[in-house]
This record gives sequence, structure tokens and C-alpha cells, in this order.
Amino acid sequence: MTTNKRHELITILAEQENQYISGQALSDMLHVSRTAIWKHINELKKDGYQFESVPNKGYRLIAKSNILNESTIKWGLNTNWLGQAIEYRKEVPSTQDLAHELARKGAAHGTVVTAERQVAGRGRMDRRFVSDHDGGIWMSLILRPNIPPYQASQMTLFVAVTLVDVLERITNQSIKIKWPNDLFINGKKLAGILTEMQAELETIQYLVIGFGINVNQGKQDFPKDLQEKTTSLGMEADYKWDKLMLIQEILQEFELAYDHYLQSGFANVKEKWLKHAYKLNETIQIATPKEEYTAIVKGITDDGALIVENSEQERKTIYSAEIKW
Ligand code: BTN
Repeated sequence: MTTNKRHELITILAEQENQYISGQALSDMLHVSRTAIWKHINELKKDGYQFESVPNKGYRLIAKSNILNESTIKWGLNTNWLGQAIEYRKEVPSTQDLAHELARKGAAHGTVVTAERQVAGRGRMDRRFVSDHDGGIWMSLILRPNIPPYQASQMTLFVAVTLVDVLERITNQSIKIKWPNDLFINGKKLAGILTEMQAELETIQYLVIGFGINVNQGKQDFPKDLQEKTTSLGMEADYKWDKLMLIQEILQEFELAYDHYLQSGFANVKEKWLKHAYKLNETIQIATPKEEYTAIVKGITDDGALIVENSEQERKTIYSAEIKW
């Protein structure tokens, strides 16, 4: 039986809620033999699903899986195009690198690459991104948007506000976006986003949007030098989050928000970004290769640059600089 049939099978069983459904009914609905159904139920059990089977009544799903893999992510995932293809690995150097490799080979728009651990996770400006622990969500999405390359920088802001929307809704925490694209809770880093693009002058071939979210790590799970600067959803709420549920919620909300953004433009994204901006109207220290000064954070431009105001009330646009937050 193919993975698709298996997906259909688990979907049917989940929709039955507490009702039993007979092996015969399942075999009729899926056009496979009863033996195939039985074999597949056994495979699903190995994936962490729990069933009750009663002679003459059939099967009933009693607990969904909390094991992460390609099929458990797909089961119950309510999306049209995002995550139709999922590449799941226990361990990779970097989901970002794997996503680039797959995209070069023609992977479809909406392909999701995720891993339990990354041993060479990358952050912006080629910095390391610590993600060798299975407590986090490490994920890269392959997107093939029909937008000009200059607009890609908006996508980064779009991803930040979308993640904030989902995570605030589910966890009830207040999350800030630190320019350009870190998510912060209570002054500590929760998540990082990395947008990379393969493009020609006028067209984007593909984007790889990577994000890493600290979910269930404890303080000791971070290297010593990061322990005071980093946090996780679990540490903030003193709760062990269901990563599978979070992944599905993120993908569902991402797809809706993405379609909406492409149809209706950037204004809504920018407004949300500003509502969550870290240190908006507060003073920060800026060091560019040319100068160092203090300035007040005022907002962002439509291409995602930071607007600050110096002590002479002059406004400046910052594209990349070292900022002492
Ligand atoms: C940053 O903090 O500078 C951005 C971090 C981006 C991390 C994600 S985790 C999934 C994907 N794979 C990587 O190697 N990096 C991104």
C-alpha cells in the first residue's frame, strides 16, 4: 500500500472519531484487500498510532501519534500545497542545505524539509545556529513565488509575522521581532529565520526559507555562552509542547497567510511587524564600518530595512549593521 493510501486510511479512521469501522468497509473505501488494511494498521502502530480492534466491529483510532516523521506530519495536515512533499530526517548537517540541493533538482513549490537535529545549522551571515538538540523545530521551506527578486526581502518579514501569529495564538506568550528577523520572548532569543534565494535578474528560481524555533529545550541544553541569551517555548511556559501539533499549525497558517500576502500585498504584514517590533521607539547602538552612534528605532521600509533616528533627528535607513540591542 502506498503512503498515500496509508494517509487516506488514517484520515478515515480519524474522521470516525469514536466509532468502529470494519476492515471490509475500509477495504471497499480504499480499494485494497483486507489483508492490506491489516498490514497497514500494523505499520501505523509502529508509527505511534494506537488502535483498538474488536472482532465483528472493526478498528477504532484511540490515540494519534506524537512521533515525528513524514507520514505523521502529513496526517491531519490541512493544506493544499504546503507540505504535500515532506523530507524528514533524524539528523542532517542543515535542512537549509538539503533544501537547496532538492530545489536544484526540481523539488516542488511547497516542499518541506525538516529534521530532528542539525549538526551544522546555519544562521544569518554564516553564523552557527545551535540546533543539535531534538527539542526544537528545524525546518526549511522551498517556495517558488512569482514575484520579482527585489520583493524577496519582504518575504522574510512575512515569515516573522506569520510565526509570531501562530506561536502567540497557541502559547499565549508575547513575542517580539528583533530586526531583521529574530523572534524574542522576554528579551531572549526564541527563533531565527533565514531567507535565501536563487534568482536571475528578473525572476526568482526558488526561495529557501529556513526557521529554527526552540520548543522543548531546557537551559542546560544550550551551550554555556548562549544560556543567558536564549530561551524556548517550554522554558517560558513550563510546559512540554507537542512539536507535531506546532508544525502542522505553522504549515497551515503559513499557507493561508502566504496566499493572502501574494494577493493583497505588504501593508498588512508591515503593520503587524510594527506591532511586534522589538525596541520600537527605544534607543539602540549602531556600528557600521563607517560610524558608530546611538539612534532610536522608528520602523521599517517596504523592503525590510530598519529606519532609525539619530540624535540630530535625522532619519537613516539601515540595511545591515551590527546593532547592540
Ligand atoms: C539566524 O538566527 O540567524 C537564522 C537561523 C535560521 C535557522 C534555520 S533552522 C532550519 C534552517 N537550517 C539551517 O541551517 N538554518 C535554518
